[in-house]
Amino acid sequence: MFKSKPKDKYILAIESSCDDTSIAIYNKNHYDMVTLSSAHDQSYYGGVVPELAARKHEDHLLTALNQLFKKNQLDFNHIDFIAYTAEPGLKVCLNMGKMFAKTLAYIHHKPLKEINHIYSHLFSFALDQTPTYPFIGLVISGGHTTIYHVKAVDQIELLNATLDDAVGEVYDKVGRKLEIAYPCGPIIDKAYKQELATINFLTKKIKPEEQFSFSGIKSQVLNYIQRNKDVDKDVILSSFQKTMIDIVVDKINYYAKALKINTIAIGGGVAANNLLRTSLQQENYNLLLPQKFICGDNALMIGLYAYLLANK
Ligand code: KG4
Ligand code: ZN
Repeated sequence: MFKSKPKDKYILAIESSCDDTSIAIYNKNHYDMVTLSSAHDQSYYGGVVPELAARKHEDHLLTALNQLFKKNQLDFNHIDFIAYTAEPGLKVCLNMGKMFAKTLAYIHHKPLKEINHIYSHLFSFALDQTPTYPFIGLVISGGHTTIYHVKAVDQIELLNATLDDAVGEVYDKVGRKLEIAYPCGPIIDKAYKQELATINFLTKKIKPEEQFSFSGIKSQVLNYIQRNKDVDKDVILSSFQKTMIDIVVDKINYYAKALKINTIAIGGGVAANNLLRTSLQQENYNLLLPQKFICGDNALMIGLYAYLLANK
């Protein structure tokens, strides 16, 4: 049917853990993806409504696959195996992707691989950089704030996970209070100015060895907004961002020093944050930074991690 077939077959990857429906093809010479987001529909509610997101996945999955295949002149003859996000995520949303992947695998006689969403965020830098082990990995998103000791692609040891809110979640809640459209992280990041970060939102010193906890800071900032209606919005946002990012960078510094590891990788939606990136760059690490387009939820990272696991 097509003039020439690619030498390497592709991994077909499916991601549906939250509000983005994303389908990707990946092999070591070429990749592409189509992502259809329902973030705009969720914006009205100030956060993700699982049932609404799941209904959108139902609409979007086949559309995204058809668009991707058409654009790249591919069909299932070009697919080696199918990888899909199995966990963690919103159950009703994960189930949509899982059923879609299982059905395609059954009909087209393809092997199926379950992939972990967080580990895929962790390795998204590997799209254009070679992993050097061991490294300290930070996954920072709307659902997760975790630090790992990564010894190999499949040897990942948890060091720290938030006890309550994730960093991106707090960005979205603070943004919502100030009537910023969801997702609020990129808008807050853009509003940030170092000279405006003048409010101290930390009421107690955080011990570096403690687990992450952001609910106290969240309440502190929300109460401050409630009580100080005349304070400039950008002063609040800049101070809030500085407080959050300082906590995260301090924690990374602690683990890097304690484990004597100088290589740091970051991934997840908040890994696109400019202050986080520049703060880490100032620390003299060997940094594995993913390109910004692969930081948020996407199927390319699922295909990439599936590839790394299959070729370890
Ligand atoms: O990884 P992701 O797309 O979805 C989850 O798995 O959660 O991350 C989305 C989160 C949202 O909370 C969004 O506000 C935040 O990442 N985010 C940012 C930035 N870009 C996205 N937060 C801070 N600064 C950014 N530049
Ligand atoms: Zn994610």
